[in-house]
Amino acid sequence: MKITVVGGGFVGATTAQRLAEKELASEVVIVDIVEGVPQGKALDMWESAPIEHFDTKMVGTNGYEETANSDIVVITAGIPRKPGMTRDDLVNTNTNIVRNVTENIMKFSSNPIIIVVSNPLDVMTYVALKVSGLPPHRVFGMAGVLDAARFRSFIAMELDVSVEDVDAFVLGGHGDTMVPVPRYATVAGIPLPELLSQERIDSLVDRTRNGGAEIVAYLKTGSAYYAPSSSVVEMVRSIVKNKKKILPCAAYLTGEYGQKDLYVGVPVKLGTNGIEQIIEIKLTEKEQAELNKSCDSVRSMLTTVKI
Ligand code: LAC
Repeated sequence: MKITVVGGGFVGATTAQRLAEKELASEVVIVDIVEGVPQGKALDMWESAPIEHFDTKMVGTNGYEETANSDIVVITAGIPRKPGMTRDDLVNTNTNIVRNVTENIMKFSSNPIIIVVSNPLDVMTYVALKVSGLPPHRVFGMAGVLDAARFRSFIAMELDVSVEDVDAFVLGGHGDTMVPVPRYATVAGIPLPELLSQERIDSLVDRTRNGGAEIVAYLKTGSAYYAPSSSVVEMVRSIVKNKKKILPCAAYLTGEYGQKDLYVGVPVKLGTNGIEQIIEIKLTEKEQAELNKSCDSVRSMLTTVKI
């Protein structure tokens, strides 16, 4: 298993580190345009291998030859948000970056699985699909796992219970219109509405929607990377080990949830072949309306992008 991570910034480097420490690949390649940075970070990580006990070969490069025959490519390249910016403000710059990265990847790998992390996530994943020419089940985006992890961590904090007992998922675009679905959130199998008042649930839903901005406001010079890298590695783990976990991911819809020709977060089954199934769940009218609104917002940005 060879995995390429494009972008050697905080998200990319932390992803590479987690992939190596979990030995999810025999080789991890970090690509970045800044001379010396991917080489230095890859070597530094490799020097931790005797202590962390991994044999994953770490390669850092400014070019794409070294990425040849990658099984999985994680695209984190792009500019991150500054305080006050929305993910959508990044669209033009990051479209060009993701297009360029995808073209280069496809020169050296004929059939990789591409996981997009760059923002605005749902639109960047669409760019990678169109530019790569790969089938949609091999191109998808990381966002739902992160948004759900935030929701789960807030629920655990609120109830003072183990995060391990908390399950939840989030639908829709990775933006202010995302749709956490508390009705389907559980704590040790107990539905969340049995444990928390609607008012408290609403406040956790709000915090989840603003979870990325909350971290940007603290960091000031960049966005989150610990939870985002954990989230993408969870997706990779389900693929590499063919675990068939059901995870919320940005998937290309062809009529599911009444939506088509766009990427948006829905629960999917992830295995060796990428997305093996898109799971459709019953939504209330209100939830469906919120999802439609979120899809409209993704679609309106898609129309501004030239691919
Ligand atoms: C976040 C950014 C990475 O949600 O989208 O933190």
